[in-house]
Amino acid sequence: MKKQRIAVAYSGGLDTSVIVKWLQEKYNAEVITVTGNLGQKKELTGVPEKAYKTGAKKVYVQDLRDEFVEDYIFPALRAGALYEFTYPMATSIGRPLLAKSLVDVARRERCTAVAHGCTGKGNDQVRFEAAIAALAPDLKVLAPLRDWEFKSREEEIAYCEKHGIPVSATKKNPYSIDENVWGTAIECGVLEDPMVEPPQDAFQRTVSPQEAPNKPTTVTIEFKHGVPVALEGKKLSGFEIIDTLNDIGGQNGVGRLDLIENRLVGIKSREVYEAPAAVILHFAHRELERLTLDKEVTHYKAKLAQDYADLIYNGLWFTPLRVSLDAFVNETQKTVNGVVKIKLYKGNVDIAGRSSANSLYDMKLATYTEEDTFDHKASEGYIKIYSLPAKTFYQVNPRGLLKKRALKRKLKKAASK
Ligand code: ARG
Repeated sequence: MKKQRIAVAYSGGLDTSVIVKWLQEKYNAEVITVTGNLGQKKELTGVPEKAYKTGAKKVYVQDLRDEFVEDYIFPALRAGALYEFTYPMATSIGRPLLAKSLVDVARRERCTAVAHGCTGKGNDQVRFEAAIAALAPDLKVLAPLRDWEFKSREEEIAYCEKHGIPVSATKKNPYSIDENVWGTAIECGVLEDPMVEPPQDAFQRTVSPQEAPNKPTTVTIEFKHGVPVALEGKKLSGFEIIDTLNDIGGQNGVGRLDLIENRLVGIKSREVYEAPAAVILHFAHRELERLTLDKEVTHYKAKLAQDYADLIYNGLWFTPLRVSLDAFVNETQKTVNGVVKIKLYKGNVDIAGRSSANSLYDMKLATYTEEDTFDHKASEGYIKIYSLPAKTFYQVNPRGLLKKRALKRKLKKAASK
Protein backbone atom coordinates (compact mmCIF):
# COMPACT_ATOMS: atom_id res chain seq x y z
CA MET A 1 0.00 0.00 0.00
CA LYS A 2 1.21 3.48 -0.79
CA LYS A 3 2.21 5.45 2.26
CA GLN A 4 0.24 8.51 3.30
CA ARG A 5 2.14 11.78 2.82
CA ILE A 6 1.90 14.64 5.31
CA ALA A 7 3.34 18.15 4.92
CA VAL A 8 4.46 19.72 8.21
CA ALA A 9 5.00 23.41 8.98
CA TYR A 10 8.48 23.04 10.42
CA SER A 11 10.62 25.52 12.36
CA GLY A 12 13.31 23.14 13.57
CA GLY A 13 12.41 23.79 17.20
CA LEU A 14 11.59 21.10 19.72
CA ASP A 15 7.83 20.78 19.04
CA THR A 16 8.01 20.53 15.28
CA SER A 17 10.99 18.15 15.49
CA VAL A 18 8.97 15.81 17.66
CA ILE A 19 6.02 16.15 15.27
CA VAL A 20 8.07 14.93 12.29
CA LYS A 21 8.98 11.72 14.06
CA TRP A 22 5.64 11.28 15.79
CA LEU A 23 3.67 11.45 12.52
CA GLN A 24 5.90 8.80 10.96
CA GLU A 25 5.29 6.52 13.90
CA LYS A 26 1.61 7.19 14.47
CA TYR A 27 0.41 7.26 10.86
CA ASN A 28 3.23 5.33 9.19
CA ALA A 29 3.43 8.42 6.97
CA GLU A 30 6.04 10.03 4.78
CA VAL A 31 6.71 13.47 6.17
CA ILE A 32 7.62 16.51 4.11
CA THR A 33 8.76 19.56 6.04
CA VAL A 34 8.01 23.13 4.99
CA THR A 35 9.89 26.06 6.49
CA GLY A 36 9.14 29.66 5.54
CA ASN A 37 11.69 32.44 5.52
CA LEU A 38 9.81 35.54 6.69
CA GLY A 39 13.00 37.44 7.38
CA GLN A 40 13.61 36.04 10.83
CA LYS A 41 17.10 36.76 12.07
CA LYS A 42 17.42 33.25 13.49
CA GLU A 43 19.55 31.26 11.07
CA LEU A 44 17.71 28.95 8.73
CA THR A 45 20.94 27.24 7.74
CA GLY A 46 21.08 23.82 9.30
CA VAL A 47 17.30 23.49 9.21
CA PRO A 48 17.22 21.12 6.20
CA GLU A 49 19.95 18.89 7.65
CA LYS A 50 18.08 18.71 10.91
CA ALA A 51 14.82 17.86 9.18
CA TYR A 52 16.44 15.03 7.23
CA LYS A 53 18.10 13.72 10.40
CA THR A 54 14.68 13.63 12.02
CA GLY A 55 13.44 11.43 9.23
CA ALA A 56 11.84 13.86 6.77
CA LYS A 57 11.36 12.36 3.31
CA LYS A 58 11.65 15.73 1.61
CA VAL A 59 12.50 19.21 2.86
CA TYR A 60 11.35 22.62 1.61
CA VAL A 61 12.73 25.98 2.75
CA GLN A 62 10.77 28.72 1.00
CA ASP A 63 11.98 32.30 0.67
CA LEU A 64 8.74 34.19 1.34
CA ARG A 65 10.29 37.53 2.32
CA ASP A 66 9.19 39.70 -0.59
CA GLU A 67 5.74 38.16 -0.79
CA PHE A 68 5.34 38.67 2.96
CA VAL A 69 6.26 42.34 2.71
CA GLU A 70 4.34 43.22 -0.47
CA ASP A 71 1.18 41.14 -0.08
CA TYR A 72 0.70 40.90 3.69
CA ILE A 73 2.63 43.55 5.64
CA PHE A 74 2.00 46.50 3.34
CA PRO A 75 -1.76 45.96 3.01
CA ALA A 76 -1.94 45.87 6.82
CA LEU A 77 0.19 49.01 7.04
CA ARG A 78 -1.94 50.84 4.48
CA ALA A 79 -5.05 49.84 6.42
CA GLY A 80 -3.45 51.17 9.63
CA ALA A 81 -4.10 47.83 11.31
CA LEU A 82 -2.90 47.71 14.92
CA TYR A 83 -4.56 45.12 17.16
CA GLU A 84 -6.11 46.77 20.20
CA PHE A 85 -4.57 50.03 18.99
CA THR A 86 -1.04 48.74 19.66
CA TYR A 87 0.21 45.47 18.22
CA PRO A 88 1.42 45.56 14.57
CA MET A 89 0.80 41.79 14.36
CA ALA A 90 4.05 40.34 13.03
CA THR A 91 3.05 36.85 14.13
CA SER A 92 -0.61 37.11 13.17
CA ILE A 93 0.04 38.27 9.66
CA GLY A 94 2.76 35.72 8.96
CA ARG A 95 0.53 32.72 9.64
CA PRO A 96 -1.72 32.91 6.58
CA LEU A 97 1.34 33.06 4.34
CA LEU A 98 2.99 30.12 6.09
CA ALA A 99 -0.30 28.24 5.72
CA LYS A 100 -0.38 29.11 2.02
CA SER A 101 3.14 27.85 1.43
CA LEU A 102 2.29 24.67 3.36
CA VAL A 103 -0.73 24.10 1.12
CA ASP A 104 1.34 24.77 -2.03
CA VAL A 105 3.86 22.11 -1.06
CA ALA A 106 1.12 19.70 0.02
CA ARG A 107 -0.43 20.00 -3.44
CA ARG A 108 2.85 19.57 -5.28
CA GLU A 109 3.76 16.54 -3.17
CA ARG A 110 0.29 14.99 -3.31
CA CYS A 111 -0.16 15.01 0.45
CA THR A 112 -3.49 14.08 1.98
CA ALA A 113 -2.88 15.99 5.19
CA VAL A 114 -0.93 18.90 6.64
CA ALA A 115 0.23 19.44 10.21
CA HIS A 116 1.23 22.42 12.33
CA GLY A 117 2.91 22.78 15.72
CA CYS A 118 0.55 25.26 17.37
CA THR A 119 -0.82 24.68 20.84
CA GLY A 120 -4.50 24.29 21.70
CA LYS A 121 -4.77 27.56 23.61
CA GLY A 122 -3.29 30.07 21.20
CA ASN A 123 -4.37 32.17 18.24
CA ASP A 124 -2.03 30.54 15.76
CA GLN A 125 -3.92 27.23 15.50
CA VAL A 126 -6.95 29.23 14.37
CA ARG A 127 -4.94 31.27 11.87
CA PHE A 128 -3.40 28.16 10.32
CA GLU A 129 -6.56 26.15 10.16
CA ALA A 130 -8.86 28.93 8.98
CA ALA A 131 -6.39 29.73 6.19
CA ILE A 132 -6.08 26.09 5.16
CA ALA A 133 -9.86 25.67 5.22
CA ALA A 134 -10.17 28.55 2.77
CA LEU A 135 -7.29 27.55 0.49
CA ALA A 136 -7.70 23.77 0.48
CA PRO A 137 -11.01 22.68 1.98
CA ASP A 138 -10.29 19.03 1.18
CA LEU A 139 -6.98 18.83 3.05
CA LYS A 140 -7.00 17.19 6.44
CA VAL A 141 -5.31 19.25 9.18
CA LEU A 142 -3.45 17.64 12.05
CA ALA A 143 -2.54 19.52 15.22
CA PRO A 144 -0.43 16.99 17.16
CA LEU A 145 0.14 19.34 20.11
CA ARG A 146 -3.58 19.22 20.80
CA ASP A 147 -3.75 15.47 21.04
CA TRP A 148 -0.44 13.81 21.64
CA GLU A 149 0.72 12.13 24.85
CA PHE A 150 3.55 14.46 25.88
CA LYS A 151 2.81 16.64 28.87
CA SER A 152 6.07 18.55 29.20
CA ARG A 153 9.13 19.71 27.38
CA GLU A 154 11.13 17.12 29.30
CA GLU A 155 8.99 14.31 27.92
CA GLU A 156 9.49 15.65 24.40
CA ILE A 157 13.25 15.84 24.93
CA ALA A 158 13.26 12.25 26.20
CA TYR A 159 11.37 11.21 23.05
CA CYS A 160 13.99 12.98 20.91
CA GLU A 161 16.82 11.24 22.73
CA LYS A 162 15.16 7.88 22.26
CA HIS A 163 14.84 8.47 18.51
CA GLY A 164 18.18 10.17 17.92
CA ILE A 165 16.57 13.48 17.01
CA PRO A 166 19.10 16.31 17.38
CA VAL A 167 18.00 18.50 20.33
CA SER A 168 21.19 20.52 20.71
CA ALA A 169 19.60 23.57 19.12
CA THR A 170 16.64 23.47 21.49
CA LYS A 171 18.50 24.55 24.61
CA LYS A 172 16.27 25.98 27.25
CA ASN A 173 15.30 29.60 26.84
CA PRO A 174 13.07 31.09 29.54
CA TYR A 175 10.94 32.80 26.87
CA SER A 176 8.80 31.71 23.98
CA ILE A 177 9.85 33.83 21.04
CA ASP A 178 8.31 34.20 17.62
CA GLU A 179 10.00 36.45 15.15
CA ASN A 180 10.01 37.73 11.60
CA VAL A 181 10.95 40.92 9.76
CA TRP A 182 7.84 42.76 11.02
CA GLY A 183 8.62 42.12 14.68
CA THR A 184 9.39 39.85 17.59
CA ALA A 185 6.89 38.47 20.11
CA ILE A 186 8.19 37.39 23.51
CA GLU A 187 6.19 35.65 26.22
CA CYS A 188 6.43 33.13 29.10
CA GLY A 189 8.88 32.99 31.99
CA VAL A 190 8.79 35.99 34.31
CA LEU A 191 6.71 37.90 31.75
CA GLU A 192 3.67 35.88 32.79
CA ASP A 193 3.37 38.22 35.80
CA PRO A 194 1.92 41.45 34.38
CA MET A 195 3.43 43.43 37.26
CA VAL A 196 6.98 42.37 36.38
CA GLU A 197 8.86 44.77 34.15
CA PRO A 198 10.49 42.88 31.26
CA PRO A 199 14.12 42.12 32.16
CA GLN A 200 16.84 43.21 29.76
CA ASP A 201 17.43 39.67 28.54
CA ALA A 202 13.88 39.47 27.21
CA PHE A 203 14.68 41.93 24.43
CA GLN A 204 16.18 40.59 21.23
CA ARG A 205 16.52 43.49 18.80
CA THR A 206 16.29 46.83 20.62
CA VAL A 207 18.50 48.64 23.12
CA SER A 208 16.82 50.13 26.15
CA PRO A 209 15.88 53.80 25.69
CA GLN A 210 18.27 54.77 28.51
CA GLU A 211 21.18 53.28 26.62
CA ALA A 212 20.19 54.78 23.28
CA PRO A 213 22.33 57.62 21.84
CA ASN A 214 22.01 61.06 23.45
CA LYS A 215 21.19 62.72 20.18
CA PRO A 216 18.26 62.05 17.84
CA THR A 217 18.46 60.25 14.51
CA THR A 218 16.44 61.73 11.65
CA VAL A 219 15.05 59.61 8.83
CA THR A 220 13.13 60.63 5.73
CA ILE A 221 10.69 58.07 4.38
CA GLU A 222 9.01 58.37 1.00
CA PHE A 223 5.64 56.77 0.35
CA LYS A 224 3.88 56.03 -2.92
CA HIS A 225 0.22 55.00 -2.73
CA GLY A 226 0.70 54.41 0.99
CA VAL A 227 3.67 52.10 0.49
CA PRO A 228 7.18 53.06 1.64
CA VAL A 229 9.49 53.19 -1.38
CA ALA A 230 12.61 55.11 -0.31
CA LEU A 231 14.72 56.07 2.70
CA GLU A 232 16.74 59.28 2.63
CA GLY A 233 15.83 59.62 -1.04
CA LYS A 234 17.27 56.22 -1.89
CA LYS A 235 14.90 53.75 -3.56
CA LEU A 236 14.91 50.42 -1.75
CA SER A 237 12.83 47.26 -1.78
CA GLY A 238 10.09 46.98 0.83
CA PHE A 239 12.08 44.35 2.65
CA GLU A 240 15.23 46.51 2.68
CA ILE A 241 13.28 49.47 4.06
CA ILE A 242 11.86 47.42 6.90
CA ASP A 243 15.20 45.79 7.62
CA THR A 244 16.99 49.14 7.73
CA LEU A 245 14.35 50.77 9.94
CA ASN A 246 14.53 47.82 12.31
CA ASP A 247 18.24 48.51 12.75
CA ILE A 248 17.96 52.30 13.11
CA GLY A 249 14.89 52.06 15.33
CA GLY A 250 16.37 49.29 17.45
CA GLN A 251 19.52 51.34 18.06
CA ASN A 252 17.33 54.19 19.33
CA GLY A 253 15.24 52.01 21.65
CA VAL A 254 12.18 52.40 19.45
CA GLY A 255 9.45 49.78 19.08
CA ARG A 256 9.16 48.12 22.47
CA LEU A 257 5.57 47.29 23.37
CA ASP A 258 4.22 45.62 26.49
CA LEU A 259 0.64 44.52 26.03
CA ILE A 260 -2.13 42.72 27.88
CA GLU A 261 -4.11 41.46 24.93
CA ASN A 262 -7.34 39.59 24.30
CA ARG A 263 -6.72 36.30 22.55
CA LEU A 264 -9.27 34.84 20.22
CA VAL A 265 -9.70 31.84 22.52
CA GLY A 266 -10.84 34.09 25.36
CA ILE A 267 -7.66 34.24 27.41
CA LYS A 268 -6.00 37.50 28.38
CA SER A 269 -2.28 37.18 27.80
CA ARG A 270 0.73 39.38 28.36
CA GLU A 271 3.07 39.72 25.44
CA VAL A 272 6.14 41.85 24.95
CA TYR A 273 6.90 42.97 21.41
CA GLU A 274 9.77 44.57 19.59
CA ALA A 275 8.77 46.06 16.28
CA PRO A 276 10.91 49.11 15.47
CA ALA A 277 10.18 49.30 11.74
CA ALA A 278 6.47 48.59 12.20
CA VAL A 279 6.10 51.30 14.84
CA ILE A 280 8.01 53.81 12.70
CA LEU A 281 6.18 53.00 9.49
CA HIS A 282 2.71 53.07 11.05
CA PHE A 283 3.57 56.43 12.60
CA ALA A 284 4.94 57.91 9.38
CA HIS A 285 2.10 56.53 7.25
CA ARG A 286 -0.50 57.99 9.62
CA GLU A 287 1.21 61.39 9.51
CA LEU A 288 1.16 61.37 5.71
CA GLU A 289 -2.53 60.42 5.70
CA ARG A 290 -3.27 63.40 7.97
CA LEU A 291 -1.92 65.58 5.20
CA THR A 292 -3.38 63.83 2.17
CA LEU A 293 -6.75 62.29 3.12
CA ASP A 294 -9.88 64.37 3.49
CA LYS A 295 -11.55 64.57 6.88
CA GLU A 296 -14.37 62.10 6.26
CA VAL A 297 -12.13 59.39 4.82
CA THR A 298 -9.60 59.89 7.63
CA HIS A 299 -12.26 59.37 10.26
CA TYR A 300 -14.01 56.52 8.50
CA LYS A 301 -10.75 54.70 7.80
CA ALA A 302 -9.78 54.76 11.47
CA LYS A 303 -12.86 52.66 12.25
CA LEU A 304 -12.13 50.28 9.43
CA ALA A 305 -8.55 49.94 10.68
CA GLN A 306 -9.84 48.29 13.83
CA ASP A 307 -11.95 45.80 11.88
CA TYR A 308 -9.00 45.08 9.63
CA ALA A 309 -6.76 44.45 12.65
CA ASP A 310 -9.34 42.14 14.27
CA LEU A 311 -9.64 40.24 11.04
CA ILE A 312 -5.89 39.63 10.80
CA TYR A 313 -5.54 38.80 14.48
CA ASN A 314 -8.49 36.41 14.33
CA GLY A 315 -7.18 34.44 11.36
CA LEU A 316 -9.60 35.68 8.71
CA TRP A 317 -7.06 36.77 6.11
CA PHE A 318 -8.37 34.57 3.32
CA THR A 319 -11.93 35.84 3.38
CA PRO A 320 -14.14 37.93 1.09
CA LEU A 321 -14.33 40.57 3.82
CA ARG A 322 -10.57 41.16 3.77
CA VAL A 323 -10.56 41.37 -0.01
CA SER A 324 -13.42 43.88 0.12
CA LEU A 325 -11.75 46.00 2.79
CA ASP A 326 -8.59 46.01 0.65
CA ALA A 327 -10.61 47.47 -2.22
CA PHE A 328 -11.68 50.35 0.02
CA VAL A 329 -8.17 50.89 1.39
CA ASN A 330 -6.65 50.80 -2.11
CA GLU A 331 -8.95 53.59 -3.22
CA THR A 332 -7.96 55.73 -0.24
CA GLN A 333 -4.24 55.24 -0.82
CA LYS A 334 -4.12 56.69 -4.34
CA THR A 335 -3.22 60.10 -2.95
CA VAL A 336 -1.04 58.96 -0.04
CA ASN A 337 2.19 60.06 -1.69
CA GLY A 338 5.00 62.13 -0.28
CA VAL A 339 7.75 62.24 2.30
CA VAL A 340 7.71 62.17 6.07
CA LYS A 341 10.68 63.24 8.15
CA ILE A 342 10.83 61.60 11.53
CA LYS A 343 13.05 61.85 14.54
CA LEU A 344 14.00 58.86 16.67
CA TYR A 345 15.18 59.60 20.15
CA LYS A 346 15.45 57.34 23.19
CA GLY A 347 12.45 55.19 22.40
CA ASN A 348 10.33 57.99 20.92
CA VAL A 349 9.22 58.60 17.37
CA ASP A 350 8.42 62.22 16.56
CA ILE A 351 7.34 64.04 13.46
CA ALA A 352 9.90 66.48 12.08
CA GLY A 353 8.19 67.37 8.81
CA ARG A 354 5.97 66.20 5.96
CA SER A 355 5.33 67.18 2.37
CA SER A 356 3.24 65.88 -0.50
CA ALA A 357 2.18 66.81 -4.02
CA ASN A 358 -1.27 65.64 -2.85
CA SER A 359 -1.21 67.75 0.31
CA LEU A 360 -4.63 69.10 1.28
CA TYR A 361 -3.06 71.60 3.64
CA ASP A 362 -3.72 75.02 2.15
CA MET A 363 -1.58 77.73 3.69
CA LYS A 364 -3.87 80.43 2.30
CA LEU A 365 -6.80 78.94 4.21
CA ALA A 366 -4.84 78.16 7.36
CA THR A 367 -2.85 81.36 7.79
CA TYR A 368 -3.64 84.16 10.24
CA THR A 369 -1.74 86.69 8.17
CA GLU A 370 -3.18 89.03 5.53
CA GLU A 371 -2.66 86.28 2.95
CA ASP A 372 -5.78 84.69 4.42
CA THR A 373 -8.44 83.79 1.82
CA PHE A 374 -10.93 82.06 4.13
CA ASP A 375 -14.44 83.53 3.97
CA HIS A 376 -15.01 84.52 7.62
CA LYS A 377 -18.49 85.88 6.87
CA ALA A 378 -19.69 82.48 5.62
CA SER A 379 -19.18 81.07 9.11
CA GLU A 380 -22.11 82.99 10.56
CA GLY A 381 -24.87 81.28 8.59
CA TYR A 382 -23.05 77.99 8.77
CA ILE A 383 -22.98 78.02 12.57
CA LYS A 384 -26.63 79.09 12.78
CA ILE A 385 -27.83 76.02 10.91
CA TYR A 386 -25.20 73.72 12.38
CA SER A 387 -26.32 74.50 15.94
CA LEU A 388 -30.06 74.54 15.17
CA PRO A 389 -30.88 71.02 16.49
CA ALA A 390 -29.30 71.69 19.91
CA LYS A 391 -30.84 75.16 20.09
CA THR A 392 -34.30 73.74 19.37
CA PHE A 393 -33.91 71.06 22.02
CA TYR A 394 -32.88 73.45 24.77
CA GLN A 395 -35.62 75.89 23.87
CA VAL A 396 -38.17 73.14 24.52
CA ASN A 397 -36.29 71.79 27.55
CA PRO A 398 -34.78 74.89 29.16
CA ARG A 399 -32.81 73.17 31.90
CA GLY A 400 -31.77 70.27 29.80
CA LEU A 401 -33.80 67.16 30.49
CA LEU A 402 -36.74 68.05 32.74
CA LYS A 403 -36.83 66.77 36.28
CA LYS A 404 -39.13 63.77 36.75
CA ARG A 405 -41.92 65.69 38.54
CA ALA A 406 -41.94 68.56 36.09
CA LEU A 407 -42.05 66.10 33.22
CA LYS A 408 -45.04 64.27 34.75
CA ARG A 409 -46.90 67.56 35.14
CA LYS A 410 -46.15 68.52 31.58
CA LEU A 411 -47.31 65.19 30.19
CA LYS A 412 -50.49 65.35 32.26
CA LYS A 413 -51.23 68.81 30.96
CA ALA A 414 -50.66 67.74 27.40
CA ALA A 415 -52.98 64.74 27.85
CA SER A 416 -55.82 66.78 29.34
CA LYS A 417 -55.84 69.15 26.38
N1 ARG B 1 0.25 37.11 20.82
C1 ARG B 1 0.76 37.16 19.51
C2 ARG B 1 -0.28 36.77 18.48
O1 ARG B 1 -1.19 36.08 18.80
C3 ARG B 1 2.04 36.37 19.34
C4 ARG B 1 1.92 34.88 19.49
C5 ARG B 1 3.22 34.13 19.44
N2 ARG B 1 4.07 34.53 20.52
C6 ARG B 1 5.15 33.90 21.01
N3 ARG B 1 5.84 34.58 21.88
N4 ARG B 1 5.51 32.73 20.64
O2 ARG B 1 -0.20 37.15 17.35
